[in-house]
Amino acid sequence: MSRIEEALEKAAKIRVDTASAVLPGTKMSGVHLPPPIMTEGGMSVTNQLLVTVSDPHTQAAEEYRKLKSAIVKMTKEGSFMNMLMVTSAIGGEGKSLTSLNLALSLAQEFDHTVLLVDADIRKPSLHTFLGIENSVGLTDCLLDGAEVKDALVRTGIGKLSFLSAGRSVSNPAEVFTSQRMRDFFLEMKNRYPDRYIIIDTPPVLPFAETRSLSSVVDGVVLVAKEGLVTLHNIEEAIQCIKGTPLLGIVYNEAATEFHRDSYRYCREGNA
Ligand SMILES: Nc1ncnc2c1ncn2[C@@H]1O[C@H](COP(=O)(O)OP(=O)(O)O)[C@@H](O)[C@H]1O
Ligand SMILES: [Mg+2]
Repeated sequence: MSRIEEALEKAAKIRVDTASAVLPGTKMSGVHLPPPIMTEGGMSVTNQLLVTVSDPHTQAAEEYRKLKSAIVKMTKEGSFMNMLMVTSAIGGEGKSLTSLNLALSLAQEFDHTVLLVDADIRKPSLHTFLGIENSVGLTDCLLDGAEVKDALVRTGIGKLSFLSAGRSVSNPAEVFTSQRMRDFFLEMKNRYPDRYIIIDTPPVLPFAETRSLSSVVDGVVLVAKEGLVTLHNIEEAIQCIKGTPLLGIVYNEAATEFHRDSYRYCREGNA
């Protein structure tokens, strides 16, 4: 049995249900949403899927904190620097929610400055989760010479800044496989060496740009959604990003026998 199979089997034994236990009602009409949470900078977080802010005492928020702690530890040990991307084999596995909750969790901890980038320009969604406009963003910086500092949105949630995807483009694969993209991200990494940069990306199997991005970052967090993705897909995805350290696999929305709300995170080979 491969290490991935072992990790998934182990996680499956724990069998937790993030969707139904943590987020009751959110997949339905949303009529029972509590009032918005106002952050220091005035941004209101209404989305109950952002558990690290909306419901920090839940087990799900705690699991994100564990993911965060593992990453902070890897940074301290020198096995990870400061730029990671979150991806998955196929779409809809929870990349955006994972990147956002991880970023929020990091930013809420004293002294962690975090930059969250929406690099899924095919299907940007982070701005929607945050309840803000997708105005000037990544593509505007990459293609139109907009200044990153002008495009960054301060969320007011700890030291979290956000770079939205920006204007839509007709040729995302070309944009993201270009040398300009590499230079841009390398410059960001070097310009902000003391901040975590978390990049939300398109899924890796269907899109070439995610593979390209993986060669620029220091590590990858892979999200795997139970019941949606196959083991074969996961193995293929890992092949696509090989060459870049796999920091962990987030086993998302697993079915439960205990109805405990939790996200499972495992380090490669050490689940
Ligand atoms: N842990 C979770 N709990 C509840 N719903 C989830 C969870 N993860 C993902 N979802 C649901 O799946 C949808 C897609 O998640 P998202 O993070 O946007 O996926 P991706 O970015 O991989 O396409 C979300 O809008 C949400 O409804
Ligand atoms: Mg997404």
